[in-house]
Amino acid sequence: MSASDSVFWFRQAAPYIHAFRGKTLVILLSGETLAAVSPAQIIPDIALLNTLGLKIVVVFGARPQIDERLEGAGLPVRFHHGMRVTDEDTLACVTEAVGRIRTELEARLSLGLINSPMHGAGVRVCSGNYIVARPVGVVDGVDLGYTGYVRKVHAEDINRQLQMGQIVLIPTLGYSHTGEVFNLSCEDVASSVAIALGSEKLAMFSADPGIILDDGRLVRELSLSEAMAQVEHTEKDSESSRRLIAACRAVQQGVKRVHILSYQDDGVLLQELFTRDGCGTLISDNDYDQVRQAQPADVNGILALIRPLEEKGILVPRSQETLEAEIDRFIVEDRDGMIVGCAALHCFQSEKCMELACVAVDPRYRGTGRGDKILEHALELAAKWGMRQVFVLTTQTAHWFVERGFRAASVDELPISRRQMYNLQRNSKVFILELPGH
Ligand SMILES: CC(C)(COP(=O)(O)OP(=O)(O)OC[C@H]1O[C@@H](n2cnc3c(N)ncnc32)[C@H](O)[C@@H]1OP(=O)(O)O)[C@@H](O)C(=O)NCCC(=O)NCCS
Repeated sequence: MSASDSVFWFRQAAPYIHAFRGKTLVILLSGETLAAVSPAQIIPDIALLNTLGLKIVVVFGARPQIDERLEGAGLPVRFHHGMRVTDEDTLACVTEAVGRIRTELEARLSLGLINSPMHGAGVRVCSGNYIVARPVGVVDGVDLGYTGYVRKVHAEDINRQLQMGQIVLIPTLGYSHTGEVFNLSCEDVASSVAIALGSEKLAMFSADPGIILDDGRLVRELSLSEAMAQVEHTEKDSESSRRLIAACRAVQQGVKRVHILSYQDDGVLLQELFTRDGCGTLISDNDYDQVRQAQPADVNGILALIRPLEEKGILVPRSQETLEAEIDRFIVEDRDGMIVGCAALHCFQSEKCMELACVAVDPRYRGTGRGDKILEHALELAAKWGMRQVFVLTTQTAHWFVERGFRAASVDELPISRRQMYNLQRNSKVFILELPGH
């Protein structure tokens, strides 16, 4: 990385570092994750996040490690609907496997940040009986024994530890009021803890780079309803399905963002948290992008977006002064503070016509429906303002508008004042969309 790359990276990361300080992040390290990658790969980044002021809870699973112990002891590995059947012998293997992983994680965190001045500084870790459990009971005639569900999370106690800067390690064991130990699913624990803490984020690692659609594509963002629909396309009781269900539940109950990340990629947590586009799949209730009315502070963002298109002759050049004077006419698509799309709306009141101009989407974000979203927003406003038609003048984007219901029209159909300003040299084509109800 060159010096200028590092400066660029640092500038991009700094607002996120600032924004996340003091926020709670719950990280799920499933047993599969810990079996596939050594803690040495993931733990240093977790320690780094802790030193940057994030409050971190690590929930860890132990499914394959428990299987291994059961097989070693000659005991059967039994599941029903994806839940382990936990009899007394199995429970002994569960507690051994969990205890071993906890010790390994604690040891690794004690190293602090290796290869840095903070080496050996150690990160304080704590664990405890924070999860109250209840038995699953008998399902379809199968007694699941010591397999349980989360009944309650002692959030105040966890918060107290987090306030002191400690990382809280939570295993998939819960305790009942009757003093019994229960084996829980790591997805249940992670989502319950994230919900109880009102956590900003829940990050879950997976073997895949995120949620993969049926056609093999990685989906980068899912709304809650899309994620719920995706559950139907995921193999029942599989790890992916459990993770997706847990993600939906967490978002439904107030966790702002759930990230599904690949454990195969080095530094994936840092990339997800501190770069604008992150990686993996983000599931959230509120749309990450929003189309809104432009404000004076957006002028530079809009200029950065439209200048290259003006230079190519796709958009009509506008001076900064004109843009500043006309900023009220713009709508922008804001992606976490960055302007990734815009459009200008000019109303011709007496003709009840609205011109849609300067429609642009940042090339890095094209082809993902953002243009449609801007158009939809513009049309909603046009309808609200009582317009009967929306028209555009375009040189190179005719088909995009035609495919969205605009019809080719002649210059004569434009409002008179607009006709007088028509630039013959540009020879733009006119397209009109009639709004419903007129
Ligand atoms: C036109 C534009 C706003 C669309 O934004 P977008 O976010 O990519 O739009 P969507 O994701 O909603 O739609 C993508 C579709 O539009 C098509 N498309 C993109 N540019 C197009 C063009 N110039 N002509 C025809 N279709 C086009 C894409 O091929 C894609 O279709 P596909 O999925 O069937 O292949 C964007 O391409 C852009 O900024 N272009 C340059 C500026 C411009 O031409 N503005 C209009 C001047 S008024």
